Amino acid sequence: MKKTARAHTNIALVKYWGKKDQDLIIPMNSSLSLTLDHFYTDTTVEFSDRFSADTFTLNGQAKANDQVSAFLDLVRQKAGINTYAKVESINHVPTQAGLASSASAYAALALAASAASGLTLTKPELSRLARRGSGSACRSIYGGFVEWQMGHDDLTSYAKPFQEEVDWDICMLAIVLNAKQKKISSRGGMQTVVKTSPYYPAWVKTCQADIKAIKEAILAKDFVKLGTIAEENAMKMHALNLSASPHFNYFEPETLVAMQLVEELRQAGVACYYTLDAGPNVKVLCLKKDVTIIKQKLATVFEPDQLLLATPGPGAHLLA
Ligand code: DP6
Repeated sequence: MKKTARAHTNIALVKYWGKKDQDLIIPMNSSLSLTLDHFYTDTTVEFSDRFSADTFTLNGQAKANDQVSAFLDLVRQKAGINTYAKVESINHVPTQAGLASSASAYAALALAASAASGLTLTKPELSRLARRGSGSACRSIYGGFVEWQMGHDDLTSYAKPFQEEVDWDICMLAIVLNAKQKKISSRGGMQTVVKTSPYYPAWVKTCQADIKAIKEAILAKDFVKLGTIAEENAMKMHALNLSASPHFNYFEPETLVAMQLVEELRQAGVACYYTLDAGPNVKVLCLKKDVTIIKQKLATVFEPDQLLLATPGPGAHLLA
C-alpha cells in the first residue's frame, strides 16, 4: 500500500482559462500543452491502518492537508477503502518559477495514490482523476504535446497525447521574476473572467481555432507558426483579465521588459515567442540552436540564475 510517482509540469500553448463546472473541473475550452523535463514532483503515498489521519509533507515540511485529503477521498471511494494516508511530496519545481506546480503535484498524487490503493487505472482514468485536483494536472499524465479535450462531463473531460515523442529541438526558457503584487489564484481569476469579461465567448471560439492550427504547426514542425499561435493565445487570455470586472492582471514591470526583449530578438531575426500563465514570469519558446543568443540578450537585464531551460519531458510514471 505504498507507491512513489513522478510527474512533470507542463506549459500550456493554448491555455485553459475558465470552468463550466467548478466542482468537477470541466473547462470551457480545450487546451494544449508541452510537458517539460526539468521541473517535476515526486510523491509517495502510503495507506495504512496504523494512521489515524491523513498527513502531508511538502519538501519535508508538514502542510495543511484539506485539499490533499479531499483528493484522497476520491481515491478511497474508487478503491473501496477507508484507511488514512501519509503523503510525502518533493517539488523539483523552483519556488516562484510560476511553472504550474499544481499540475505536476496532482498528476503525481493521482498516480501514487491510485497505485497505493490497489487501483489499476487506465491513462484516461488517471487523467480524469488528476483533473479533479487541478485542471492542468490532467495533461501532465502524458509526455510531449498533450491536448485536454474539454468534454462535457466527468467521463468525457480528459487529456490525450498528441505527440508523445517530440523529435525536434523545441525548448522553453523560463525567466523567473520577483513578484511584488499579490497573486490572484488561477482558480479565482478564471472564475471572475467567465462571469464578467464581455470577450469571454470570443475566447472560447478562438481557442478552438488555435488548437486546430497549433496541431498543424506541430505536425509540420513549423516553429514560427507554433510560437505565433502560442504567444497570441497567451495575450488573448491576459486580455480577458484586463477586461474583467474587477479587472486584474499578472504583469510586473519586469514582465513587460522581458516581453520587449523577446520582441527585439525577433526583430533581429531570432525566432522566439513568449507565453505567460497566472503569474508574472515570462516563458520563452525557442529552438535549442538559439538558446545561447537569447540568453545573451536576456542577460543584459536579468541574472543568469533567473533563466531556467527546459526541454520536452515524459509523462507521469511510478518510481517505486
Ligand atoms: C493559466 O490548472 O492551476 O496555467 O483547475 O483551478 O486548479 P485549477 O487551475 P489550474 O489553471 C491553469 C491555468 C493556466 C493555463 C493552463 O495551464 O492551461
